[in-house]
Amino acid sequence: MPRTPTKDDKFSFGLWTVGWPGADPFGVATRPVLDPWEYSDKLAELGAWGITFHDNDVFPFDADDATRERICTQLKDATDKAGLVIEMVTTNTFSHPVFKDGGLTANDRSVRRFGLRKVLRAVDLAAEMGADTFVMWGGREGSEYDGSKDLYAALERYKEGLDTVAGYIKSKDYDLRIALEPKPNEPRGDIFLPTAGHALALIAELEHGDIVGLNPETGHEQMANLNYTHGLAQALFSDKLFHIDLNGQRGLKYDQDLVFGHGDLISAFFTVDLLENGFAGSPDAPRYTGPKHFDYKPSRTEYLDGVWESAAACMSMYLMLAEKAKAFRADSRVQEAMAYSGITELARPTLGEGESVESLLAADEPFDADEAGKRDCGFVALQQLAMEHLIG
Ligand code: GCO
Ligand code: MN
Ligand code: MN
Repeated sequence: MPRTPTKDDKFSFGLWTVGWPGADPFGVATRPVLDPWEYSDKLAELGAWGITFHDNDVFPFDADDATRERICTQLKDATDKAGLVIEMVTTNTFSHPVFKDGGLTANDRSVRRFGLRKVLRAVDLAAEMGADTFVMWGGREGSEYDGSKDLYAALERYKEGLDTVAGYIKSKDYDLRIALEPKPNEPRGDIFLPTAGHALALIAELEHGDIVGLNPETGHEQMANLNYTHGLAQALFSDKLFHIDLNGQRGLKYDQDLVFGHGDLISAFFTVDLLENGFAGSPDAPRYTGPKHFDYKPSRTEYLDGVWESAAACMSMYLMLAEKAKAFRADSRVQEAMAYSGITELARPTLGEGESVESLLAADEPFDADEAGKRDCGFVALQQLAMEHLIG
């Protein structure tokens, strides 16, 4: 039996996850929608530490200021009472028809101006709710047809939008960082910033990029046939892993949003291993210390008991994998196998300290390429030990 989660585990859930009533393009909702505060009570009871939400998970798109204020205060009171943190707030720039061609990158400039105002208002809300992360998932920023966009201008507008929001955060002195969430497609045919690497490249072009990082999602990288753990590593390498969306995905399909670990289990094991134990040979490398945030969907087949089962399963999967990853690293056979495989040797620079390229070229060091080519890397044996820990 996995242990019960506690607040120290820093598990958090989007209100739109447990709050998804199961409506999809093929069928109507299969369960009721509760009030936002009802989810926070139940999540706290299950051992979660925090919640997150989009502006319009909580109040309607066209809510007036008074309604907005009243509902947000009620939610904040409820989460405070439940002992939950509101760690992230974001904005919905994808549901309303006005955003069908994007919020920050719509061809229609008046839509972009409206979109930007909506994002800025949500930034104010995030600060008010005490969140420290503002995720930006540009689900509608993209296209179905390459001829429909000036792709250069779209990236310029994305950059303009992000710099405007980041500059606003700084001008208001908010304790907030932006986390971009890459996704290759769905709902758009192709979404801009399809992977962690694309998003990092855009961040490098920003004026206020210092407060902009990433919120990589398991399933999104896997929908692009990429390795989520590698994406997290790349973000850590750039010190840009600001937030994470954990879930499960099985192969190249629509965004399945399964319970974390219910997709590619081996990949989930190494994701947790990285998050919990860090890089094997680089103890001084950046570590992720933020919330373990689940962005999954309780399957449409489940009613309310199933919603809570699946939320508990996300946390439980993480905790089971964390235990196994700890045992994996602590196992002396694993340490020997890692040494045999030269895992820590990779952390040693290829050039000597202060060594010039000339000295490398002139180095008269004995090296037998054919012999080196015969080296047994031992990676399979190491992987098998991981599997022993995972399922043995
Ligand atoms: C998706 C995304 C969203 C975002 C959310 C927060 O595929 O629908 O993962 O769930 O994470 O909009 O920005
Ligand atoms: Mn998703
Ligand atoms: Mn997500």
